[in-house]
Amino acid sequence: MERTYKAITELILQAKNKRREKQSGADSIDPIFDQMRGIDWPIKCTVGPGLEGAIACKSRVGFVNGSEGSLIYRGYDIFDLCAYSSFEEVSYLLLYGELPNDRDLASFTSRLREYRFMPNTLRMMMSAPVESLNPMAALRIGTNFMHQRKTWRDRECAKPPLEDAIASDEDSIPMETPPRGEKRAIYEFRRPHLDRPRAERPALDDAESMESCMHLIAGMATLAAAIGRLRRGRLPIEPDPELSHAANLLYMMTGRRPTPMEERAMDVALILHADHGMNASTFACLVVASTMSDIYFSVDAGIGALNGPLHGGANELVTKMLREIGSPDNVPSWYRKARESGKKIPGFGHRVYKTYDPRAEVLAPLAGMLAETNPNCAKMLLTARGLEEMVVAEMGENKKIFPNVDLHSGIIYHALGVPEDLYTVLFAVSRVSGWTARVMEYLENNRIFRPRSLYVGEFNREYVPLENR
Ligand code: ACO
Repeated sequence: MERTYKAITELILQAKNKRREKQSGADSIDPIFDQMRGIDWPIKCTVGPGLEGAIACKSRVGFVNGSEGSLIYRGYDIFDLCAYSSFEEVSYLLLYGELPNDRDLASFTSRLREYRFMPNTLRMMMSAPVESLNPMAALRIGTNFMHQRKTWRDRECAKPPLEDAIASDEDSIPMETPPRGEKRAIYEFRRPHLDRPRAERPALDDAESMESCMHLIAGMATLAAAIGRLRRGRLPIEPDPELSHAANLLYMMTGRRPTPMEERAMDVALILHADHGMNASTFACLVVASTMSDIYFSVDAGIGALNGPLHGGANELVTKMLREIGSPDNVPSWYRKARESGKKIPGFGHRVYKTYDPRAEVLAPLAGMLAETNPNCAKMLLTARGLEEMVVAEMGENKKIFPNVDLHSGIIYHALGVPEDLYTVLFAVSRVSGWTARVMEYLENNRIFRPRSLYVGEFNREYVPLENR
């Protein structure tokens, strides 16, 4: 265990040194930090399509320096966090702003361990057609199930009138009268009547509390693994409270306790994906939170945004693409065709980074280490390297297109035995730390998000009745 830990730490520190060599004046504070200090609302900035350049809010959670290619969480360099920290500690850091001491970390970790167990949520998940849903849709459903009957808003604001609730009891559904005497307008549910689930512990009274954040961080890992199993017609595996978050996640997904190397690789991947500035999914979470909805609905929005192929969905597309290319020899012809078709190549390019994504610089050597014992991954990795060479040679300096985090993450998940349909789900399992941290921060000084659009449509059109059109 100790040897593996050291080997991976060494690998990450080497990646950090390489990065430093590339940066000129790496020890000095980048001017962009200074430019940002002291700025207050209203902020003047140039906004491009896709809100490029827009400042959504102030934040102390994390920062992406796209020209330098650096990423920090709460002031700590991502390379150092990957080298020395754990996902549990990083989640605490993101949520509370400081690294925990021994006691705080032990108590935080023990809360996460408790929240891994979600029998009632999983019971509800098993009543949904998980096997035929997009896994990210199943994850959204799962986070909604996590939130049911728990928050004060459900109890106080959204609770149905008692008579309606009684009338909608499962037993009474077949007695419902179809509208206007129609015979086939009503679904019939013929599920066996199960015992009412016992209340899940611990009870959550506030939908925007640190408890909800911990519930989501721990619970989404359980959900992800359960979704993977249910999709394959298998029952979810009960969490093991003795294992770390990373090891337990792999255990619940694969049914096998991971090796120290696998556990550490998973941990590093979780840390790397935990937060990333004002990306699309984080912004989606904040928009929902800003309406004073609640954190479960906010995370739900984040999952939806992350699902897209331009964002978190790219990791799955990368491994599909690498398989389609087949081998390093096929890269040139595949690449030429892709460029001719004007296709964007998954795993490359970024709105903010105009150089190598530092996360890719950690994941590339990590994938290399895992590929040493996995020939299938070795082939994928060589193909990815060949593709990287071609993309960077043609579009690196010219268009500032470099590998992003998604180029190697799928190869790593593949080596860890994670099914491909869970790659984007895994991204969410990690990013939920950043989402919740930023929602909590934003709510301290909440103002509803309400941008405007540039109206370029017509005015004063005369309404023409349907029969005259
Ligand atoms: N392959 C080929 N060309 C690309 C790529 C790519 N992956 N990415 C950008 N370009 C080109 C565009 O075609 C465009 O060229 P043009 O100026 O000649 O029209 C130029 O670079 C700028 O691209 P935009 O699409 O305007 O960049 P934007 O900032 O809007 O998009 C994005 C960023 C969505 C990440 C884009 O690079 C992309 O689609 N990449 C592939 C998908 C991907 O890997 N997404 C994951 C990103 S990381 C994450 O979200 C976790």
